[in-house]
Amino acid sequence: QKGGYDTFMLKEIHEQPYAIAETLRGRVEGTDRIILPELDAIHDKFKTFNKAYFVACGTAYHACLSGANILERLTGIPTFTQVASEFRYCDPIVDEKTMCVFVSQSGETADTMAALRLAKEKGCTTIAVANVLGSSISREADHTIYTCAGPEIAVASTKAYTTQLIVLLLLGMYISQALGNENEDYKRIIEGIASLPQHIENILKDEKTFEHYASYLKDLKDTYYIGRSLDYATVLEGALKLKEVSYVHADAYIAGELKHGPIALIEQGSLVIAVATQPNIAAKTISNIQETIARGANVILFTIDGQEVGNVKETYILPDVDPILQSVLVAVPLQLIAYYAAGLKGCDVDKPRNLAKSVTVE
Ligand code: M6R
Repeated sequence: QKGGYDTFMLKEIHEQPYAIAETLRGRVEGTDRIILPELDAIHDKFKTFNKAYFVACGTAYHACLSGANILERLTGIPTFTQVASEFRYCDPIVDEKTMCVFVSQSGETADTMAALRLAKEKGCTTIAVANVLGSSISREADHTIYTCAGPEIAVASTKAYTTQLIVLLLLGMYISQALGNENEDYKRIIEGIASLPQHIENILKDEKTFEHYASYLKDLKDTYYIGRSLDYATVLEGALKLKEVSYVHADAYIAGELKHGPIALIEQGSLVIAVATQPNIAAKTISNIQETIARGANVILFTIDGQEVGNVKETYILPDVDPILQSVLVAVPLQLIAYYAAGLKGCDVDKPRNLAKSVTVE
């Protein structure tokens, strides 16, 4: 059942190239077009939306943060994100000119379901991104796009997350297409999407490197993840993964916020895991990294070619793809760091304490 792996979590991490390829299958035509027949019925309606909301819980919410950033960049539609347990009680200002996207692996999460029902009551167009076929959320949404991750057994979401990122990327591209926004960047992104499974295969070959990075966590109680823009969504997910499987406390910060408080926590031997994959702001994150090093932090940096920093303990250079695609790639090393840190602490990664795979109560 575990396909030769010790745990479902490790098996599912390794299944990501295949899960992503399956999620892309039939949805990318050459380098020209994204095909999402699930949305063809509302192809012309996208022009009428003046706002978009992305709503979910946990890891799926982190996928929403990336998806919203991408949709806004590609289409210019003002886009908001909200955790489902907040959305349902905050009397959101949404109406028939709002499209609401609900993301859920299980399709059964109680808060996400309630948020979806509220959006429908308010007249929004609702789109679900779900993994489980025929699940409640997928049945109740006006339109559903499935991730094709296959069954995810481990409580910690891995392949569901990266396939959610893929679907949200395709969604952003599809809407951009519907609005007539394609340009040269657009073609480059499509080419890049197709290369993601192979890039992840290559990153997985560096598993031993990430196991080594996890060894920095062996005797630590706290870790700090930092990033900006899309990298912030990525580090939130990296920190959640570490917390839930290894019980090491991890906080994720927008790098630019460090000096507004969190840097007070950094001392000799603190561990900072930094992600700087967005060329337009990588230099800013790097300057924040230097500030943590000056206070004694050990830094593990995930970045792109040309953005290396002196004095960090470890640097991992990500493949050269469009910046919009980096969240999918850097997710994998962060999952493996969490996995191996949990192993060092003797934790049961597939069944972390106090957690259930599907949260069907509020
Ligand atoms: O099934 P869903 O995607 O709606 O679940 C949402 C969260 O409960 C889920 O992502 C949770 O945060 C995972 N344990 C994260 O690994």
